[in-house]
Amino acid sequence: MLADFLIRNTAEVLTCAGPAPRRGKAQADARSISRAAVAAHEGRIVFIGFESLLSQEVELTPGATVVDARGGAVVPGFVDPHTHVVFSGDRREELRRRLAGLTYADIAADGGGILSTVVATRAATEERLAADTRRRLDEMLRCGTTTCEAKSGYGLTRESELKMLRVIRALAASHAMEISPTFMGAHEMPVEYRDRRRAYITLVVEDMIPTVAREGLAEWCDVFCENGVFTPDESRDILLAARAAGLKLRIHADELGLSGGSQVAAELPVRSADHLIFIDEEGADGLAKAGVVATLLPIASFYLKLGRFAPGRMLIASGVPVALATDVNPGGGFSPSMPFAMTLACFGMGLTFEEALVGATINAAYSLDRHDRVGSLEVGKQMDAVIVAGPAIDLIRVGADTIRAVIKKGRVIHHAD
Ligand code: NIG
Ligand code: FE
Repeated sequence: MLADFLIRNTAEVLTCAGPAPRRGKAQADARSISRAAVAAHEGRIVFIGFESLLSQEVELTPGATVVDARGGAVVPGFVDPHTHVVFSGDRREELRRRLAGLTYADIAADGGGILSTVVATRAATEERLAADTRRRLDEMLRCGTTTCEAKSGYGLTRESELKMLRVIRALAASHAMEISPTFMGAHEMPVEYRDRRRAYITLVVEDMIPTVAREGLAEWCDVFCENGVFTPDESRDILLAARAAGLKLRIHADELGLSGGSQVAAELPVRSADHLIFIDEEGADGLAKAGVVATLLPIASFYLKLGRFAPGRMLIASGVPVALATDVNPGGGFSPSMPFAMTLACFGMGLTFEEALVGATINAAYSLDRHDRVGSLEVGKQMDAVIVAGPAIDLIRVGADTIRAVIKKGRVIHHAD
């Protein structure tokens, strides 16, 4: 068969191929092929297997790109299924205040938090917002992410939520990052609706959701179900309206306390319940039975100084498929790096390297319902890959130059040298 792209001279390829999502013991099934080559044509993988078999199977086109992995490992391009990457403004000062001992809640009560980003994002032009976001997407790409989710939710008016989603659409068309858009008008209760919550929910349900769906601006709808933000009943109303309008569902649940969010997640059910720092075994059983993916965001726990991580081991033991994400955002998502999320999952939640890798690739792709196209290296899927400078486990050497190259749809989009 013909190929216009080839990666050769690998020590091993961790393909993460096979059924999705992976739960229980299968969470660790990263499927390694040693000394493998990967060939692709027009952005799709056509061959993956021992390099010794390559010449019998693959004929390279005259202008083909050949990447020498120089004995490094290859893994699938990372999929980051939870980001708030679109925003304007700056909350680095909150990080300083947290380091001085204030909590997320203290800071939010003092005018910081999500609502301060809302002020800056509402004020930004579409061009400004796109330029700010583009830089962050570039950073994520350099860390090996080739597909991500991106949410609205810092506008909280009809116009500014649509503006955020239009920015995502424009970037999805012009940036190498593949982006799955999420409408999150229920990220926070806007100040102007504090005394009439129901009116805001009606606006989200009767106006924003139908408009977003009609204009094809989002694939998903997400809600921040949390004590003091949206209640389980409010979250259910919003997500049911979104489903009726044709959107797929995700939820922020049990991030800062037991919020009832995982019960709503299991009952609807949603595709992915995210954060789950405070979920208990009963909540985990519910998710397992309903087939909901747990998308865990250890970078947020870390930078918010929550003093704990989601119970990743308990979720895996309960049979819940675990995905990882960065939660890139101005308040607690200070790292764009999926390898850093994997590192914290290993050292903060007790996952093995393979469990974390599956969480950052095929299970993350399942979390975004794109597991048929991305998240693993197998014939027919997109040629999205990360070439590691050494063995794959070097990915968790935070701060070292371990990513040699990043490939999206058969194009080298980042090269370290
Ligand atoms: O996922 N939980 C809600 N949203 C973000 C935080 C957003 C912010 O602080 O701006 C999160 O942690
Ligand atoms: Fe979030």
